[in-house]
Amino acid sequence: MIPYGRQSVDSDDIVAVAEVLGGDYLTTGPKVAEFEKAFSEKMACKYAVAVSNGTAALHLSSLALLSAGDKVLTTPISFVATSNSILYANAKPIFVDVADDANIDLNLCEDALKKDPSIKAIFAVHFTGKCVDLSGLKYLKEKYNIKIVEDAAHALGATDVASVGDASTFSFHPVKHITTGEGGMIATNDDVIYKKLLTLRGHGLTRDGGAFENAEAFDENGAPNPWYYEMHDLGFNYRLTDFQCALGISQLAKLDKFINRRKEIAARYDEAFAYFEHIKPLYRFEFDSAYHLYVARVDFTKAGISRAELFKRLNAKKIYPQVHYIPINTQPYYKKLGYNPQETPNALEYYEECISLPMFYSLGGDEQEFVINTLKEAIAWK
Ligand SMILES: Cc1ncc(COP(=O)(O)O)c(C=O)c1O
Repeated sequence: MIPYGRQSVDSDDIVAVAEVLGGDYLTTGPKVAEFEKAFSEKMACKYAVAVSNGTAALHLSSLALLSAGDKVLTTPISFVATSNSILYANAKPIFVDVADDANIDLNLCEDALKKDPSIKAIFAVHFTGKCVDLSGLKYLKEKYNIKIVEDAAHALGATDVASVGDASTFSFHPVKHITTGEGGMIATNDDVIYKKLLTLRGHGLTRDGGAFENAEAFDENGAPNPWYYEMHDLGFNYRLTDFQCALGISQLAKLDKFINRRKEIAARYDEAFAYFEHIKPLYRFEFDSAYHLYVARVDFTKAGISRAELFKRLNAKKIYPQVHYIPINTQPYYKKLGYNPQETPNALEYYEECISLPMFYSLGGDEQEFVINTLKEAIAWK
């Protein structure tokens, strides 16, 4: 079977996890800080906070940056977690249409910011691993004094990722570049946001004597009692375990190798479809993309085959592509909130044509050729 994405876990990874399982700390131990340090060094950011998944990373970023009622620009072409996280903070997502690469259109963002100065933030998704124009994002951040969250779940390893966001979030789900089973990370350069994220990750508790408010926190000499903690915020248990962090450290060391292979696969797909009428890459080979996904656009009407039929033909050969994504504003939950998908026509048009082809480190050359040929045959067939 050839899925659209899958993990690559080797014997080094397994040894790293097994060592932790046989040790003293399964959770809240030293591997967490070790993974965070390795990650922040790799991303050239000041702080990294490990959390239980990418959705938790978005949730905590929203709570750290937004207030109830804040208006936030975001994209309909993402996993539902992106805009859901804005709702978790009782803020209001505003869906902005996408550009040709299916990333949020920054010109439309600027139009919206000009019209409505009360907009507080942009939650930008680096869709497929190709970053939203980071200099454009920085310009909007500075000119309109807004907060930026980079949802970088697709973009670990992309050039300059996490360089603009007040917080940038990552996912280590098995289909992503590196995995910890479930897992996520938040990168930030801001001391205040960092402290807030740490507190929110752990139930809103603090063990910092300097922050204690209650008198019983201290012994007769004024020293903080060793068992004592205080809750100052409504937080969560969004911790990542030590054995997951051990897997993350081991996987992170292989990130460059993983990304290079993904780029090779993307370049081969581009080449294979260059002269094939009905399949176009979402964008031509882009060195700076981390290629979490390889999205092809198929004009199904012209090709004379429906997407459902194409999926059936591929599935019959044990190839399992995907669709990324059904526009979030078409989801019944969002429609009930009053969102109208017709307001983002490019997203709707993109959705009609997109198909994500197999893209993962261990995809063999022969397997990729099989995917290409099967796809071409299925589309050429009428
Ligand atoms: C763009 C995007 N944001 C957020 C998430 C949520 O990450 P997780 O599945 O780790 O919660 C995903 C994962 O699928 C994603 O693709």
